[in-house]
Amino acid sequence: MLTNTLTTPAISANALACCPTGSSSKDPLHVLNPATIRQQFPALRKNPDVLFFDNAATTQKPAEVIETVTNFYREQCANSGRAAYSWSTKLSARVEQARTELARFIKASVDDVAFTSGATDSLNLVATMWGLNNLQDGDEVMVCLEDHQSATLPWFNLQQILERQGKSITVVPFKMHSSGTYDRESIAETLSARTRIIALSHVHHLYGMEMDLPELRRLIPDNVLISLDASQSIGHTAIDVTRLGAHFLSFSGHKMFAANGTGVLWVKPELRVQLWPVRVGAKSAAEITPDGLMIDRTTLSGLVEAGTVNLPAILSFLPAIQFIESIGIEQIEHHLSFLTHRLYESLKALPQVEFAPGIGACNCTKGYGILSFQLSGFDSADLAAYLDSMGIFVRTGDHCLASRKGQDAFARVSLHVYNTLEEIERFVEVLSDATG
Ligand SMILES: Cc1ncc(COP(=O)(O)O)c(C=O)c1O
Repeated sequence: MLTNTLTTPAISANALACCPTGSSSKDPLHVLNPATIRQQFPALRKNPDVLFFDNAATTQKPAEVIETVTNFYREQCANSGRAAYSWSTKLSARVEQARTELARFIKASVDDVAFTSGATDSLNLVATMWGLNNLQDGDEVMVCLEDHQSATLPWFNLQQILERQGKSITVVPFKMHSSGTYDRESIAETLSARTRIIALSHVHHLYGMEMDLPELRRLIPDNVLISLDASQSIGHTAIDVTRLGAHFLSFSGHKMFAANGTGVLWVKPELRVQLWPVRVGAKSAAEITPDGLMIDRTTLSGLVEAGTVNLPAILSFLPAIQFIESIGIEQIEHHLSFLTHRLYESLKALPQVEFAPGIGACNCTKGYGILSFQLSGFDSADLAAYLDSMGIFVRTGDHCLASRKGQDAFARVSLHVYNTLEEIERFVEVLSDATG
């Protein structure tokens, strides 16, 4: 058992000497100071010895985000968009302010942005609001089974729903390259005259690679729609919906420092006409007429947001965006790339490390904070348990990949803006002592 063979690590003076603390890296462009940033995160302040390396699952929350949520309940708890009293009208205005800020953050128009309960909800809505309404017998949908199952399962589910209605669609898988990016040849071979939509991820949640969207857009015919999962790129790199070449964009708030329970769906405005809502109710842009239900497609939110939405979590987008912009998305991106490379260089020195596809297995110049690996001779679950006992939180398991069920897992390190070089050095020391 791993736990029997591991001893408490001591951080070597050499390790710290070669990689100085926090922000004082030798990279001249690296001006970000994670030590100061950490002060804004109550959970990190309270647990200074914890290495939180599971940011791809969720980020820690800055104090302003927590205060926004608690203040909603403590100070002016109301519903929005319904009543004429001041708490309610002020709240409605702040919800719309959050929408406006979010739209600006992704360079979208406010009418094209809807709040959902998370990326999974958004990705399911693409399949149901668009797919259910548009796919015909014989149509094909392309997915990569090495993508997160929140992006792939909705299409298999839709296939079943349509089958019950007597329509047969095919979900056709395409492959991922061993580098951790999509295999373009496989995509080219899988495309057919019946392909209607392809589900892509922007940055892979296990391999950490950015997909080359301009190149993919050139490969994929214009009539094939792209549903893009930006869960691992939002808050890591600038998102500009006008340049991504996608028709649908989905992400969660909790992975970009906002509260849990809310996400975003953006739909290219030309496509709104093809959508049909799958839930309607209070505040829906829907009206019962003698001819049946009439849908008003003026805004995406009118088609998506039915009933009371997660108001405090939506409000928390405001301080979350403010937090990101106070640092600068380019600085965050640069810091993550810098840390990923330093982590890779340090792990490379350990003979037992076998890298997963991604930055550890290819000559990529850029990282987004995600690096996955196995230690030969060690079970990843044991490794994760041991790391947990040392206060280091990494993710193992199937990583929500339909294609990896039952296989030994990779351990995934996922970093964010508050992670430091010292933490990486400590992590590598712990691994080195454990295996050495
Ligand atoms: C790439 C990707 N897509 C979708 C999701 C689902 O996000 P959520 O659970 O917030 O809906 C995740 C979550 O880890 C993810 O990494």
